[in-house]
Amino acid sequence: MIPLQTDRLVLAPLGAGDLNAFVAYRRDPDVARWQSWTPEFNAEDAGRLLEGQPADFPPPAGEWLQIAVRDAASGALLGDVAVHTSADQPDSYEVGVTVAAEHHGRGVAREALGAVVVALFDDHSAHRVTATSDARNAAVARLLTRLGFRHEGRAVEADWFKGEWTTLDSWALLSRER
Ligand SMILES: CC(C)(COP(=O)(O)OP(=O)(O)OC[C@H]1O[C@@H](n2cnc3c(N)ncnc32)[C@H](O)[C@@H]1OP(=O)(O)O)[C@@H](O)C(=O)NCCC(=O)NCCS
Repeated sequence: MIPLQTDRLVLAPLGAGDLNAFVAYRRDPDVARWQSWTPEFNAEDAGRLLEGQPADFPPPAGEWLQIAVRDAASGALLGDVAVHTSADQPDSYEVGVTVAAEHHGRGVAREALGAVVVALFDDHSAHRVTATSDARNAAVARLLTRLGFRHEGRAVEADWFKGEWTTLDSWALLSRER
């Protein structure tokens, strides 16, 4: 159930008030490098994304939901957590996370993604939560390891992504592994 509250953060649906901060960190080349969008991401793209957001957490089968991660004290948007509900398997979810570069290294992703993962397991009976990362992305590998995800596999040069063959790591956490 969102909003979710942690020590320092509030996780809630992304809203129109988040648009400028959301576009700003998506345009950062060091952030976009690892994600599906490019530094050309603009306000129109963000508007379309916000309009197409499902209302529910977890989202309906086959859909992605981006959840705003806000500083509890100031309300500032620090990043977002993405959740996808599998259309193929029951109680199975994929997650992703983005934090604005100026807030990296403060444990924001750990606190935010950790809260979403706990909510999926404890409040929504998740069986399995997965994530996929570029094998060169040391930050997300560390983050997922910290949160207890198991490194399930590596698909070597399996994905033609942004003009090069990219090696993908897959990660998973089962309810019974927590
Ligand atoms: C990955 C990302 C979300 C991490 O956010 P963050 O808020 O800085 O992460 P945290 O501060 O919660 O750190 C979590 C762990 O990762 C480690 N970490 C963070 N940045 C790191 C880096 N650049 N290199 C190595 N480890 C790093 C932290 O030390 C911490 O590990 P620890 O608990 O053992 O000390 C952030 O770097 C980001 O948004 N990157 C761009 C988008 C992206 O790659 N998203 C993931 C795509 S799957």
